[in-house]
Amino acid sequence: MRTVQYTSSLLYSLLILLFFVQIQAQPNCSSSCGEIKNISYPFRLKGDPSGCGDSDYELSCVDNKAILEIFPGRYYVHNISYHDQTIRLVDVNFANGSCGLPSGPVETTDGFVRDVRFRGYGLNPGSRFRFVKCSTNISSVPEAANHTTVPCLTRNGTYVYAVYDGDYSYYEPRKSCSVISLAPVDLRKDVTKFNSYEAVMELLKAGFEIGWSVKCRDCSLAGKQCVVKSMEKPLIYICEKEYKELTRAEGNWIIAAIVVGGLIALGVIIGIIVVVIRRCRRRRNAADNTNKTLQNRIVA
Ligand SMILES: *[C@@H]1O[C@H](CO)[C@@H](O)[C@H](O)[C@H]1NC(C)=O
Ligand SMILES: *[C@@H]1O[C@H](CO)[C@@H](O)[C@H](O)[C@H]1NC(C)=O
Ligand SMILES: *[C@@H]1O[C@H](CO)[C@@H](O)[C@H](O)[C@H]1NC(C)=O
Ligand SMILES: *[C@@H]1O[C@H](CO)[C@@H](O)[C@H](O)[C@H]1NC(C)=O
Ligand SMILES: *[C@@H]1O[C@H](CO)[C@@H](O)[C@H](O)[C@H]1NC(C)=O
Ligand SMILES: *[C@@H]1O[C@H](CO)[C@@H](O)[C@H](O)[C@H]1NC(C)=O
Ligand SMILES: *[C@@H]1O[C@H](CO)[C@@H](O)[C@H](O)[C@H]1NC(C)=O
Repeated sequence: MRTVQYTSSLLYSLLILLFFVQIQAQPNCSSSCGEIKNISYPFRLKGDPSGCGDSDYELSCVDNKAILEIFPGRYYVHNISYHDQTIRLVDVNFANGSCGLPSGPVETTDGFVRDVRFRGYGLNPGSRFRFVKCSTNISSVPEAANHTTVPCLTRNGTYVYAVYDGDYSYYEPRKSCSVISLAPVDLRKDVTKFNSYEAVMELLKAGFEIGWSVKCRDCSLAGKQCVVKSMEKPLIYICEKEYKELTRAEGNWIIAAIVVGGLIALGVIIGIIVVVIRRCRRRRNAADNTNKTLQNRIVA
């Protein structure tokens, strides 16, 4: 009886000890940098004690401004919402209102955020400026109406335009043009055309919001697919079961296997039919022969 009591109390203290060790291993740290007063899990500030936040969500503090380096680009952090799991970023190249290209494209040209740590836009999926470089002046072409000249990048023989896309639409650049960069921006339902680069700049300066999710990152790193279920805030992510996208080569192999398999099956079926038909004929011939001999005998 005593030993039981003794062991259970020992186990109990061990559990309590483990509990405290656990708490110690995840200190409640909250750092601040300029306007961002509450940098806490999963975010951490460079130089925070190890164990603070998650190293995948590390910000640096430069001249009292929190900076996130992703995609690869450099962005000022204007706001972190722990409730909505969103973060507002402003490209360092646009923050002071100067003309230029984004420091790094957030999206691939097919419109996907290319970082497993950040998924989904806040309330405005797919609003962006495309920076388009052309070898001719297309300003007078009618379909170029919503191309706004980027003055600082347009030189003799090189014409750079910003094209607003408020509702992710397929964009096919003209023959003499190509998309050189993309900058996400807030959705402006009232505008499709920006008459001046100042108006473009204003939107770029306000930055954009993207979602972050540790759960989603872990899901992606585990080889599963994380999808944004709802674009309303707070964003809802779901981790889908094992999911592996087939590469083109794998797809081709599968198609080839199906075709070859089908041909073999067809061959086998034809073979069987031929054999069956032959057997039937042979049997009929045999039957005919026996009939004939029988008849002959009867006649005899
Ligand atoms: C963490 O720190 C914040 C403020 O720094 C405080 O409001 C909060 O209660 C703390 N949480 C825990 C679990 O100690
Ligand atoms: C900072 O964020 C943490 C985590 O979301 C929260 O628990 C805490 O209350 C916040 N503190 C302040 C001062 O906003
Ligand atoms: C961040 O956004 C929240 C909610 O929209 C707002 O209350 C807060 O003041 C903002 N913080 C900063 C630093 O802009
Ligand atoms: C804005 O910042 C860029 C570098 O990021 C600098 O070259 C430029 O002079 C700045 N412009 C203004 C108006 O401060
Ligand atoms: C391009 O053409 C438009 C209209 O013809 C003209 O107003 C504009 O100055 C031209 N742009 C450049 C950079 O030459
Ligand atoms: C721009 O190019 C045209 C023809 O290609 C040339 O005549 C003109 O001198 C150039 N202007 C400058 C400023 O280089
Ligand atoms: C340009 O504007 C027209 C109408 O203003 C719109 O139909 C078209 O989709 C726009 N093109 C792009 C690439 O946004």
